Amino acid sequence: MENQKKVLFSGIQPSGYLTIGNYLGALKNFVKLQDQYDCFYCVVDLHSLTISQVPAQLRQNTYNLIALYLACGLDYKKNTLFIQSHVPAHCELAWALSCYTMYGEARRMTQFKEKSAKHPENINVGLFSYPVLMAADILLYQADLVPVGDDQKQHLELTRDIATRFNNKYSPTFVVPEPYIPSKKDGARIMDLQDPEKKMSKSDNGGAVMMLDSPDDIMRKFKRAVTDSGNEIKYSTSKHGISNLLTIYSAFTGKSILECEKEFEGKGYGEFKIKVAESVIEGLKPIQAEYARIIKDKQFLEEVIAEGKQKATYASYKTLRKVYRKIGLIL
Ligand code: TRP
Repeated sequence: MENQKKVLFSGIQPSGYLTIGNYLGALKNFVKLQDQYDCFYCVVDLHSLTISQVPAQLRQNTYNLIALYLACGLDYKKNTLFIQSHVPAHCELAWALSCYTMYGEARRMTQFKEKSAKHPENINVGLFSYPVLMAADILLYQADLVPVGDDQKQHLELTRDIATRFNNKYSPTFVVPEPYIPSKKDGARIMDLQDPEKKMSKSDNGGAVMMLDSPDDIMRKFKRAVTDSGNEIKYSTSKHGISNLLTIYSAFTGKSILECEKEFEGKGYGEFKIKVAESVIEGLKPIQAEYARIIKDKQFLEEVIAEGKQKATYASYKTLRKVYRKIGLIL
């Protein structure tokens, strides 16, 4: 057997900065995953076009994201790290699959409705067919597993429906992918520091800590973090702010929640927040240093990107040819 490892596919949009939520929920675990699975990490630049982009910024964000993946310890030789638009098979399969996706199905997608409401001036066709391109991303590589957050579950479900429909109409062609759910320890869910009932995202309310934030910014954001009434540093479903800070501290120090609670017994919120900030600053330091080094090394980045393109092209065209043959296109 050529390869018995399961295939894992992950796509991240090159839009803006990644938060420590992205780091703890995803990037931090890459290093572990790369030995266990055959991983494809795709910077989905074409998906980003569904929202208005500044060209120079999109280009820069794409390089930044590749550099950040590498800075987190992702080995580009072990994995396939690539840019979506470098592999035309994504668009080619997306077109074919769009003919096996019902208008009514696509119209039901919650994210389409939400984004349409948010950008009423730009409800483009790409936004509508977005999940079909995502299905193509996943199915091209015969992925067994796809790490997805809550907001992408419906898209993965649609991907499974499209794959199953195609397999039934022709013959088994696609692996029907499953969501990859990390263990609780590896999949920490980080909430916004200003609104701890909301997931941390690239918002501008000061409640999101970015992976590339300076130590001063990190300290400032944690000092201003919303806590709860009371003064006990205890994990509890009714204490969203404190629980979130404990989760972050635990993830960055590797200590259990229980150990963290003990450490801060009888201490005040102010002191606790500073300690959490320090743990984040320390934890991000080596990544930020690696990032600063890699982002300046254009030649190395180009080499990584070229290798990813080559590996992804090879894997994807195997599937695309199979699909074209089955549906009756002349090869
Ligand atoms: N839609 C995903 C998001 O916004 C990004 C994405 C595109 C993706 N293609 C994918 C995620 C394939 C997983 C698999 O988060």
